[in-house]
Amino acid sequence: MSPASAVQADALPLRVSPRALPAWVYNHPEMTRLEIERILKPSWQIACHVNSLPKPGDFVTLEIGAESVVVLRNRQNEVVAFHNVCRHRGAQIFDGHGHCAGNIVCPYHGWTYRQDGSLVGVARADTFPDLDKSKLGLRPVRIATMGGFVFVCLAGDPPPPNEVFGPLLDELSPYRTEEMVPLCSIYTEEWAADWKVVMDNYLESYHVPIGHPGLQRMFTPDYDDQKGHPGIARGTSWLREQPSSHWRERMYQKLIGSVSGQLPEPNRRCWRFYSMLPNLGLDVYPDQMDFFQVLPRGPGRSIIRGAVFGLPDERREMRIARYLSDRINWQTNNEDRALCERVQRGLASSSYEPGPLSTIETWMLEFQNRLRQQIPESRLPKAPAVFA
Ligand code: FES
Ligand SMILES: [Fe+2]
Repeated sequence: MSPASAVQADALPLRVSPRALPAWVYNHPEMTRLEIERILKPSWQIACHVNSLPKPGDFVTLEIGAESVVVLRNRQNEVVAFHNVCRHRGAQIFDGHGHCAGNIVCPYHGWTYRQDGSLVGVARADTFPDLDKSKLGLRPVRIATMGGFVFVCLAGDPPPPNEVFGPLLDELSPYRTEEMVPLCSIYTEEWAADWKVVMDNYLESYHVPIGHPGLQRMFTPDYDDQKGHPGIARGTSWLREQPSSHWRERMYQKLIGSVSGQLPEPNRRCWRFYSMLPNLGLDVYPDQMDFFQVLPRGPGRSIIRGAVFGLPDERREMRIARYLSDRINWQTNNEDRALCERVQRGLASSSYEPGPLSTIETWMLEFQNRLRQQIPESRLPKAPAVFA
């Protein structure tokens, strides 16, 4: 190629097929550290649903990298969030989820905080000559709610989730997500795949016809990923008229329209998937919904954290529909896990160079471009010796 034509080719970037990120990016400790600092901490993360904390004193924790956050319904019935770290010598105070009946007591030396985070009691207070309790409350964390879900944000000033979801909230409103209750506890799973491999996977439906034969039997091809909203990829899958050859899927197809009468007719026939950059998913079905988030567990490994919610409904038919829905989703989850772990293994090969991307992998490209923007080293074909 002559220098002139090289310049011309550079001037026409749209004619060059976009490529995925280089393999090293998916398994590098410094990348993981920078992703947590620059991408995940300055973004809204789902902690739970307001109805995951029905009583004052109920709490859940959320770990993001080295950070731990506790979200608590306090005695004033407000949902509040704090860094889960004692102001004395830094012990983590809460584990997992549960109920804190009275004041918050650190398990190390017993410093005691009110449920509003203020420090009220210090053992052997006479041994701390200059103690100013008013300056040593638990450190608050920014909190916001959307559709009943409680989000926390550890750094920066991103626009609130309501604003990011914007017009898509109208689509969610018939499902009455604010009134939903948890149908299971918050679960976590560890996958042998980098969090970005997992998000790449959730941000495209190109893999569905081959990777998820069950979804393919039940739904019409789902290639409308492009029709989202800035920062949110949206996919809608419509149930096929044609009954699936698999009994469980066929039974769900048959049952779901009649048990979801609370919804407008078209909503009874579709599954909606929203992926909010950088790492959250909301999946909304006629019978229930779930959230999940993909968090790094070091380079090349991730934690999937999520839970399932539904309107209170004890009818037998609804219980059956939810059982079927769970089984179908469990299968899809296992397929995604196997695919992501397969990619992670392939990325370790010296032979791999990023291949071209389809025009229906747009959201994945958007995600990767954000990464290129936030961590410019991710554009390099090989890991640099030093990061800026
Ligand atoms: S670390 Fe909490 S009381 Fe000492
Ligand atoms: Fe998938």
